[in-house]
Amino acid sequence: MSQFAVSPATATDLPAIAKIVQNAFEDSPNTISYWMLPRENEAAVYEWRLRRAEENFHNDPTSSFIKCVDTATDKIVAFAIWEKPYSFMTQEQKAKQQQDGREMRSNDNDLPKGTNAALLHDLDAQTARMRAKYVNREEDYVLRALATLPQYQGKGCGSALLQWSLEKVDADGRRVFLEATPQGHSLYAKFGWKDVDEMVFDLNAFGFNGHVQKIICMMRDATK
Ligand SMILES: CC(C)(COP(=O)(O)OP(=O)(O)OC[C@H]1O[C@@H](n2cnc3c(N)ncnc32)[C@H](O)[C@@H]1OP(=O)(O)O)[C@@H](O)C(=O)NCCC(=O)NCCS
Repeated sequence: MSQFAVSPATATDLPAIAKIVQNAFEDSPNTISYWMLPRENEAAVYEWRLRRAEENFHNDPTSSFIKCVDTATDKIVAFAIWEKPYSFMTQEQKAKQQQDGREMRSNDNDLPKGTNAALLHDLDAQTARMRAKYVNREEDYVLRALATLPQYQGKGCGSALLQWSLEKVDADGRRVFLEATPQGHSLYAKFGWKDVDEMVFDLNAFGFNGHVQKIICMMRDATK
């Protein structure tokens, strides 16, 4: 029997999920978060991560949080956040979504002290541009996030989360768009995603010497 169990997450799982984001992304120089967020201000970054997850979970009807639990310890060790096609929303939810304009926008007043806001704005802007170009919001899914605690990486949690969710996506005959870190790229390729574009972040322009960071945009076609 597998040591890992995948299921939908609940609101009480959000603190554990915010912790995983912090550990998986902020520890790796291969992610934008590593450069963008103040690593010396860990507690404030965690609180900000948690507020964002809560806002997303409670107020965005398109978002769907999935967790992977180590059944030996009952600990959440990995998670995924999916964005469902807008056609899944009620008319009322769609109207609210449009009114809120909840689209890749960060509130500058809420950022942890020491965040590189210019880099965050660039990340938001490039992401919004790519999604506008490639995603049909009525029809397509977006994989917004996937992360595994560093000590659990390479043990099959990311694959288990993708497998679980893609069964539903495939039964529904939908495409899935995502933005891949260099670390996630080979996993996504294995599950059928293809490169369609890339975002380039010249970190020299944001005060970091000699670093150019790439995020690969990928699309997985519908399987039926
Ligand atoms: C990318 C990520 C989510 C993969 O999750 P995971 O639980 O490690 O996934 P799996 O165990 O199913 O591994 C899948 C593949 O990833 C690769 N991999 C993941 N972590 C690895 C590690 N620490 N060392 C070596 N290979 C690793 C392997 O190629 C593996 O393929 P294989 O099974 O053919 O060997 C995880 O590494 C992570 O959280 N990374 C930091 C955050 C990030 O970049 N997220 C992706 C955002 S797009």
